Amino acid sequence: MTKQYRITLLPGDGIGPEIMSVAVRVLKTIGEKFALNFEFQEALIGGSAIDATGEPLPAATLETCKNSDAVLLAAIGGYKWDSLPRHLRPETGLLGLRSGLQLFANLRPATILPQLIDASTLKREVVEGVDIMVVRELTGGIYFGQPRGVFTTETGEKRGVNTMAYTESEIDRIGRVAFETAQKRSKRLCSVDKANVLEVSQFWRDRMIALSAEYPDVELSHLYVDNAAMQLVRAPKQFDTIVTSNLFGDILSDAAAMLTGSIGMLPSASLGASNPGVYEPVHGSAPDIAGQDKANPLAQVLSAAMMLRYSFDQAEAATHIEQAVLKVLDQGYRTGDIMSEGKTLVGCQAIGDVLVAAL
Ligand code: IPM
Ligand code: MG
Repeated sequence: MTKQYRITLLPGDGIGPEIMSVAVRVLKTIGEKFALNFEFQEALIGGSAIDATGEPLPAATLETCKNSDAVLLAAIGGYKWDSLPRHLRPETGLLGLRSGLQLFANLRPATILPQLIDASTLKREVVEGVDIMVVRELTGGIYFGQPRGVFTTETGEKRGVNTMAYTESEIDRIGRVAFETAQKRSKRLCSVDKANVLEVSQFWRDRMIALSAEYPDVELSHLYVDNAAMQLVRAPKQFDTIVTSNLFGDILSDAAAMLTGSIGMLPSASLGASNPGVYEPVHGSAPDIAGQDKANPLAQVLSAAMMLRYSFDQAEAATHIEQAVLKVLDQGYRTGDIMSEGKTLVGCQAIGDVLVAAL
């Protein structure tokens, strides 16, 4: 029997529409092969939503997302919207989507592909075999804490404020996702905080230690965020699963991504307790190359594979896509961001063509 899935597509801005079109072609092909019927509905988010409706996250978009089985997002943002007031920025739309769907757990794998080792800026022996999963808290911490804003003090001076805050339940639920993720991997979990300076971080660490009693098979360790950043570039293979707060996870996941050579290869999943998950590449909207058919669509395609695995429980179809990506790389096809000597430089749609053929 053909299984039916409703997917909301959010192409967004910049290179978003180009890379999304490749992912949709891949999904259609995989659907035929595995008897999965995908119903696609498209909605607006980010700058393109601002242009069309005046808001970065129209209510209709959130509704459409809620009424679907999963959401595939490309990227948002661009120079054009950078100087708008904060509530009208594309980023505000993305944050609204995450909080509106209560997607508190962001899984960002950084796995080095043997085919791309030489695309990394680090030495081969440092990055060979790197396989890290960053579990980032996504709906709390300083991104959402109150008070926030720029206020005028009693002396008339202006003062900018953001607040890093976590409740026990917020820490525990992301902690559980992280321990369970580590259980399915090599059972090592490193919690990253700034407990030497911040109370909120000491509390985070105390909760992680308390939770670890429920997961005796997982080896829990702790690092301060500055040291973690250094260790990631010094000796990344020491890491398996990392769990951390929203802001630290934002920073560390970019650093971890770059170990693999290109941020253009990395997918992510944002999951909550009940609403549909959102799958998106870790990279941004790359407005500098938008519309030029130069973008690397592979992170978008791998995000679609993650969607099949996590939201639809279609591991076999997901693996099939991942294998096809490896095959295309083995065949020597590269977009500009991962190009190296002796390989064949192709554009976004052309790598889509060879990918569909490989499926
Ligand atoms: C990310 C991005 C976003 C974030 C921005 C675009 C709001 O950097 O997904 O990592 O900071 O979370
Ligand atoms: Mg980021």
